[in-house]
Amino acid sequence: MNEILSPNAVRTLLLWYQQNKRDLPWRHTSDPYKIWISEIMLQQTRVEAVKPYYARFLKSCPDVRALAEIPEEKLMKLWEGLGYYSRARNLQKAARAVVEEHGGVMPATYEALLKLPGIGEYTAGAIASIAYGLRAPAVDGNVLRVLARVSGTDADITLPETKKHFREALARVVPEAAGDFTQSLIELGATVCAPNREPMCQSCPLRDCCAAYREGRTDEIPVRAPKKPRRIEERTVFLIRDGDRTALSKRPQKGLLSGLYELPNILGHLGEAEALAHLRSLGFEPLRIQKLENAKHVFTHIEWHMIAYDVRITPEFDGLHGRSGMLLIPNGELHQSYAIPSAFGAYVKYL
Ligand code: ADE
Repeated sequence: MNEILSPNAVRTLLLWYQQNKRDLPWRHTSDPYKIWISEIMLQQTRVEAVKPYYARFLKSCPDVRALAEIPEEKLMKLWEGLGYYSRARNLQKAARAVVEEHGGVMPATYEALLKLPGIGEYTAGAIASIAYGLRAPAVDGNVLRVLARVSGTDADITLPETKKHFREALARVVPEAAGDFTQSLIELGATVCAPNREPMCQSCPLRDCCAAYREGRTDEIPVRAPKKPRRIEERTVFLIRDGDRTALSKRPQKGLLSGLYELPNILGHLGEAEALAHLRSLGFEPLRIQKLENAKHVFTHIEWHMIAYDVRITPEFDGLHGRSGMLLIPNGELHQSYAIPSAFGAYVKYL
């Protein structure tokens, strides 16, 4: 049986990587902790967006113990804007498990890594190969695209069995330089064998062994089953403030954006009269209410279509008394200490 990459293709790929790799912060370390953090951040976020977060995160949490101990609000603040906040929560859960079960040292096998919260097949393979040089396969979206094109498969890459097939195929060809091999495939997928736009086949080290290139089908492969359309949620957001303080509420501990702070909002698009009635039911007595611009935020499975009101209340207002779970936070503190998801970015910019 032909392997997915011949020994010659693997050598060519490694050579290409040596000559073309981007200089990225996590490529200057072999600390498994730092590589883990980078891989988690890179899962759903672009390299350029990750860079500043990675540096700031490691400054606050330089090792597993620091991550295990950092207060939740500070952790969320470090993650603010990156999205997919469960990644940060799982990082902390895993850090605590590493402290409790592994004496604070990151486990050094694929199987043990896989047992940690938030570490799946890809991340376990990435850490095992990049940090420990173990010959483990790591198949993320980039790698899947490269391998689908090289093999010329019409299999749907969103299916778990397709990923499993490529993981097993890749496992058979991982060379001694396992970490560079993993990163070379990721790098090729990110910079040459690009998604959406035309791949840059003229610069590709795998061109000679790529079935999609040979057959002129790089625009058809990878095959991806159409996504389910996202559910659209209409919301009305309230920017309730008195000049110095702004109302925030805490989201429930479960579900979308769990446990984060938000601008008070409610399902549905409320007209001004309905909005006023709602505010009064929360205990507010608005001095003025003004419509703000509409905004949209796209999550993985949901879209929020937001309308918003700027609501002025008197500086003396203290009518909440902890009712309705709402807090009035001085604006300075709000920016420093409260993690507010980017979904509210269009309105937080006024504060
Ligand atoms: N995406 C996922 N892992 C990566 C890495 N190590 N370097 C660049 N992009 C990545």
